[in-house]
Amino acid sequence: MEVIISKDAPSSSTLAAAHIARVIREKPDAVLGLATGSTPLPLYKELIRLHREEGLDFSNVRTFNLDEYLGLAPEHPASYHHFMWENFFSRVNIQATQVHIPSGLISGPEVPAYCSRYEEEIRSAGGIDVQILGIGSDGHIGFNEPGSSLASRTRIKTLTQRTRADNARFFSSENEVPHHVITMGIGTIMDARRVLLLAFGAGKAEAVSGAVEGPVTASNPASILQLHPEAKSFLDEEAASGLKRRDYYRWVFEKKPSWQRDL
Ligand code: PGA
Repeated sequence: MEVIISKDAPSSSTLAAAHIARVIREKPDAVLGLATGSTPLPLYKELIRLHREEGLDFSNVRTFNLDEYLGLAPEHPASYHHFMWENFFSRVNIQATQVHIPSGLISGPEVPAYCSRYEEEIRSAGGIDVQILGIGSDGHIGFNEPGSSLASRTRIKTLTQRTRADNARFFSSENEVPHHVITMGIGTIMDARRVLLLAFGAGKAEAVSGAVEGPVTASNPASILQLHPEAKSFLDEEAASGLKRRDYYRWVFEKKPSWQRDL
């Protein structure tokens, strides 16, 4: 996995956004896999700026979000539907028909068939060109909590108490954080052609060091990215602070031939 360390979240997000913009300019109907949470906010801000100031065109772009809380209607202020429209989709020229987010309103025995259809929709769109990921403080990607099958597909998951506590800030109390979610699986994420993992802040340092330099293990789901041929992690100084080889990663990035910076 390529490790790119920047001084702070905005500069890291600018690099990640430039990568995504290149993909969209080369393939205007690119399929983006999108993430929610605090981490991708500066990335969305930069993509919106590129749209407004540099004409980055989302009119043919297709998107698939990683996950959604079960039990939350799209209008719920903590739903990921709401998050995506508020922070990104309503600010670029994406078509609503090209946006896919798992429904939070599926229940009971309908869930497995619904999840298989989500997988089928990704396949019929030609697969995900670039998947954006945050990382949980426990190493989760999407909502694939530690212990998730490394081959898992889109399905229902039960959140850990740690994740519910981490995400309580988006709700009026921790009790309101749903216990269940629909999430793309780790196998689904690994099928993306490129993966961009973003992590900012000291709270992510332990998860990041396990993911980048630890063993590949379901105990840190993000560690599977070591097996992905095109995975890049964009880190700020704090999130990178637990990495043993951080000076080498910096060196690699500084010494990159200019032609390679655009890949
Ligand atoms: P955060 O969440 O960006 O809000 O820290 C990351 C995640 O849980 O994947």
